[in-house]
Amino acid sequence: MREKWSPNSWRSAPAKHIPTDYPDAAAVARVEATLKSYPPLVFAGEARNLKSSLAKVAAGEAFLLQGGDCAESFKEFHPDNIRDTFRALMQMAVVLTFAGSKPVVKVGRIAGQFAKPRSEPIETQDGVTLPSYRGDNINGMDFTPEERTPDPERLIRAYSQSAATLNLIRAFAQGGYADLRSVHRWTLGFVADSPAGERYRKLADRISEALEFMAACGVTPETTPQMKQVDFYTSHEALLLGYEEAMTRVDSTTGDWYDTSAHFLWIGDRTRQLGGAHVEFMRGVKNPIGMKCGPTLEPDDMLRLIDALNPENEPGRLTLIARFGAEKAAAGLPRLVRAVQREGKNVVWSCDPMHGNTLKTQSGYKTRPFDRILAEVRTFMDVLPAEGAWPGGVHVEMTGAQVTECLGGAAAVTEEDLSDRYHTHCDPRLNGAQALDLAFLVAEGLRATRMEARKVANG
Ligand code: PEP
Ligand code: CO
Repeated sequence: MREKWSPNSWRSAPAKHIPTDYPDAAAVARVEATLKSYPPLVFAGEARNLKSSLAKVAAGEAFLLQGGDCAESFKEFHPDNIRDTFRALMQMAVVLTFAGSKPVVKVGRIAGQFAKPRSEPIETQDGVTLPSYRGDNINGMDFTPEERTPDPERLIRAYSQSAATLNLIRAFAQGGYADLRSVHRWTLGFVADSPAGERYRKLADRISEALEFMAACGVTPETTPQMKQVDFYTSHEALLLGYEEAMTRVDSTTGDWYDTSAHFLWIGDRTRQLGGAHVEFMRGVKNPIGMKCGPTLEPDDMLRLIDALNPENEPGRLTLIARFGAEKAAAGLPRLVRAVQREGKNVVWSCDPMHGNTLKTQSGYKTRPFDRILAEVRTFMDVLPAEGAWPGGVHVEMTGAQVTECLGGAAAVTEEDLSDRYHTHCDPRLNGAQALDLAFLVAEGLRATRMEARKVANG
C-alpha cells in the first residue's frame, strides 16, 4: 500500500468494475472537472456526527438501519418514491427503537446509489452482444448500442438527482414530517392491510399513548425538538472513483479530506482487494465507511483490510457488512467475528441479508426468497452475541412501494406475481410490507439480546 494518499492516488492502483470504455476520455475529464466545481452534497460535520453515532453502535449502545434501492434510476426518480422509502425506513426505525430501547441510526441507500458492479461485463440477447447495464450514471438499461455505451454526461444528471433527492430528504427529516406524533401516518396504504401493518398499528398506539402521557408531564416536541426531527444520513457504494474523487474536498475546520458525495460510503464485495484502487481511495477520506464481507473473505485478509482502512482503530469509522447467504452464514461468519474480537478491532457489524440470497427463477427473474433473507438475519442475530459481539445493524435493499421483486412474505409474492410490479433496475428489493416484517424479526432478536444481557448483568 502506498504511503502517500491523495484524492487521485487510486489512479495508479489496479481497479475493478470501473468502466474503461468511454468513447471520449477527454469528455470524462471535462465532466469530472465540472463536478469538482459543484457544491458538496453533504458537509464534513454531518459525516462526523454520523461517525460518532456509529461509534455508539460499535459499543453496543445503538443500532444501525441502512436501506434503500439496489440502484436508483432516472426513470424512478419521483418525490412519491423518495417519500415512500423514507416512510418505510421511519416505520422500521420505530419498530427497532421500541424493541431495542436503543437509538437507531438511520442511513439511506439513497441520493447517489447509482453505479453497479456486474458479474458479467457483457450481455447477449438473441445473438447480439452488448456491454452490461452498469447503473444510470454510467449507461442506460435499454438493450441498444447507444444506451449501453457509457456516457459521462450521465454523471452530471446523477449529481443533480442526488442533490434534489437529498433536499427532499432533509425537508422530511427536519421539517415536521418525521414528528413522532405522525407515527400512524407513515403507514403506506397497502402495508396497512398486511399482518405487519396490523402489528405496527398496535405498536404505534402504544407510542401515541406514551406521547400523550409525556405531553401531560410537559415533555412535547416543542420542548424536546428531537421528538419532531430525525438525523437521516445518505450512503452509496463508492464504485465510480472518478466521481468520488471529484466530490472529495478538504474540510476547512479540520484540514481533513471528506468525500462529500454522501455521509457514508462502502466498498463492495467485488472491489475490496488489498492494494486495489477502491481500498486506496477509501483509506484517505475521513467519512465513516463500510466494507462488504462475503464468503470469499479470509479472516487474515479481513484483518489486513481493517488495518488499511482504520489504522487508528477509531470506533465508528468502519462498518463490516456481512453478506454470506442464508446457507453459508453459520459456517463463515463466526470465524470473521472471532478474528475481530481476538484482535480488539473496533467495528460495527451489520448484516446484509440480500446479496447472498439472490437466485434466478425459471422465467428469468432475479429474485430473493423472503424466508432465506429472514434466515440469514436470524443467524446473524445468533452468531454475534454468541461470539461476544453486538449485532449492530442491518443493510437491506428495500422500497416503500408495493413492488413484487422478492418471493414470499406475509402477502406471499409467488413466482407468477413477480412480473406484476418488477421495477428494480438491478437487484430485487423488499416491498414496504416485507421490510416492516423484517424489522419485527430483527426487533425480536434485539429484545432477546437485551434480555440475555440483563440476565448476565444480574448474575
Ligand atoms: C450492493 O450492495 O448492491 C452490492 C453490489 O453488494 P455486494 O458488493 O455485497 O455484492
Ligand atoms: Co444490490
